[in-house]
Amino acid sequence: MTITNGNLAEKSSDTSRLLDIRGLKVWYKTYRGNAQVVDGVDMYVNQAEKIGLVGESGCGKTTTMKMILQLLNPSQIVVPEGEILFQGRDIRKMNEKEIMEIRRSYVSMISQAPMAALNPVFSIGKQMEDIVRYSGQFPKAGRKEIREICAQAVNDVMIPDASRILDSFPHQLSGGMRQRICIAMSLVTPRQLLIADEPGTALDVTIQDQIHRLLRELVEKKGRSLIMITHSLGVARELVDRIYIMYAGNIVETAETKSLFASPLHPYTNGLIQCVPRLSGGGISAGIYGYVPDYVNPGIGCRFCSRCPDAKAICAKEKPKLRQIKPGHWVACFKYEAPSAERGEQ
Ligand SMILES: Nc1ncnc2c1ncn2[C@@H]1O[C@H](COP(=O)(O)OP(=O)(O)OP(=O)(O)O)[C@@H](O)[C@H]1O
Ligand code: SF4
Ligand SMILES: [Mg+2]
Repeated sequence: MTITNGNLAEKSSDTSRLLDIRGLKVWYKTYRGNAQVVDGVDMYVNQAEKIGLVGESGCGKTTTMKMILQLLNPSQIVVPEGEILFQGRDIRKMNEKEIMEIRRSYVSMISQAPMAALNPVFSIGKQMEDIVRYSGQFPKAGRKEIREICAQAVNDVMIPDASRILDSFPHQLSGGMRQRICIAMSLVTPRQLLIADEPGTALDVTIQDQIHRLLRELVEKKGRSLIMITHSLGVARELVDRIYIMYAGNIVETAETKSLFASPLHPYTNGLIQCVPRLSGGGISAGIYGYVPDYVNPGIGCRFCSRCPDAKAICAKEKPKLRQIKPGHWVACFKYEAPSAERGEQ
């Protein structure tokens, strides 16, 4: 077993990297103090790579992704540290015009809340046509061509009668249709990175499965990159090349999908795997007892400490770093490293 110390983001010098998040911290200002929701996240996405970001509710997945598109209200957050490099340039240092360009032409996000993502006072067609028109990617397309591009995107997400849908307002569609329209909107113009935040939430299982397959096919066919956010390790296993496991604002384990399922290392990852229901029966799973910590006072040690079956005294006093245990497989846990005093560190 080889253990490599250090920062995951800095360890790879791969030039094919599209997105590189380094040491990102995001705190929300609350009346009780700063809620330290994202606590030093390192992650990267290569060109044409499919990534899964998996963790339970409230662990900071959406917050991290919204930071990529700078969608959080600056007056409500503190960002003490971190870089978000997109093709080598730090999004946090871009001006408003450059950030708009990133949103318009490079990165799209399928929101977790489709109703909130759609404007209730404009038809679906108007909203979608605006995306195509202002993307600047179809400068010669007239009204008819733009309408055809939108109709094709609606058909791509398996909604028949695209013409009626384009003339409808959001409240005239079912929840599942709205979700698929959000997916269509994010795919209607070519972008290098697609962030899908729980895109199956409002869909029944058959449509959910089809949509997941569709997303995979579209990104593979067009050589795009995908970050799939999900609570479900099962969905991630089917869809993505590499998985990041996030717990309470930290990446606690990351590996290629096969390697992660072949030998999951972190106690939280093992707990998540045990939570997956099995159709063959076997009773209710043991699950993971307890809750994510209070982000205003998360403590100085491992944030999983109060729920961890393997916790030792050191776990409450010191925070484990992400370390490479075998090629490409990183974990942050004292089960796999000696405490700093034993390592001779300060
Ligand atoms: N504007 C805000 N102000 C204060 N706290 C916030 C704000 N937005 C989110 N949070 C808190 O940040 C934490 C992480 O939220 P986030 O939405 O990033 O989690 P998530 O991993 O996406 O969860 P889910 O899987 O349920 O979507 C939660 O405790 C949430 O209450
Ligand atoms: S560092 Fe300690 S508390 Fe945290 S996951 Fe590992 S064993 Fe459990
Ligand atoms: Mg979320």
